[in-house]
Amino acid sequence: MHILGIESTAHTFGVGVVQRQLNEKAEIVSNQLAKFPSTQKGYIPRELVEFHSNHFKEVLEKALAEAGISIQEIDAVAYSQSPGIGHCLHFGYIISKTLSVFLGVPLIPVNHAIAHVEVGKFLCNARDPLVVYVSGGNTQILARTKVGRNHYYKVYGETLDIGIGNFLDQVGRSLNLNPPDAVGVLLNAPKGKKFIRLPYTVKGMNLAFSGLLTAINRLKEKYGTKDLCYSAQETAFSMLVEATERCLCHTRNPEVLLCGGNARNKRLQEMMGFMCAEQETRFCVAPDEYNGDNGGMIALTGLLLYACGKIPEKKEPDQKARVDSQPIPF
Ligand code: FE2
Repeated sequence: MHILGIESTAHTFGVGVVQRQLNEKAEIVSNQLAKFPSTQKGYIPRELVEFHSNHFKEVLEKALAEAGISIQEIDAVAYSQSPGIGHCLHFGYIISKTLSVFLGVPLIPVNHAIAHVEVGKFLCNARDPLVVYVSGGNTQILARTKVGRNHYYKVYGETLDIGIGNFLDQVGRSLNLNPPDAVGVLLNAPKGKKFIRLPYTVKGMNLAFSGLLTAINRLKEKYGTKDLCYSAQETAFSMLVEATERCLCHTRNPEVLLCGGNARNKRLQEMMGFMCAEQETRFCVAPDEYNGDNGGMIALTGLLLYACGKIPEKKEPDQKARVDSQPIPF
């Protein structure tokens, strides 16, 4: 069987295909995407949807070609239902619903955050990880927990203001980097020599990044860009590693899984890896391709829901659904 996955929560329009033959392990057989380029003005929802509508046909065709199948061979269509930017979620929903009606196959709503976790677990062969989910809009420390009859991803710690990716993107724009986002910070940070003391805010297992951003905006006339990038990354990542270690000492999961768009940062991977080695816990991170937003993770999570026969009934997009708002049926 083949499940098509459509991702469109924010800047990326992605399409992936997952295949599973009888009694065999699932395989992600295609993963194609188009990403709206970062600009100094950030992301405007209307422009994102225009970008998605200009690219969806080409991305869909590439994904089917990579999988080596025709559209008629799709057995179900999964899509990002939540959380995300309203305009973008609705565009993905309309495309997915149209395809499901046209093909006469089930429509499977998927929570984007759960999809990030599931694809990381799948690719790293992680059994029961403590999850560190880091992206533009989210920074959460999660672990699978049983409540009554159901399992949920319980949130042990999270950002109290902005996501770590949003923080790094805003540093990139404020310092006029090229590109003006977290990648610009990542490229400049290794060239920094001087560590500048910045606000460090960890409250138990929760974090806050806006004070750090305000301090950087105030200090940008006084210090060089490279030193500020270096200090911003070291401070924010140290906060995240400290909160994760505190949580790990409490939950004692056998693995720590880093996932989400900012999990691609090699310095964050290195710091989290050091902590896991000290705690004698396996550190897992999926290849970069599957940490950014992608259709493959939506297809995979769609397959997990389809296989256990628990496809959610509510299909309409939900901008704000939290990762812990729905049970994990698989
Ligand atoms: Fe994401």
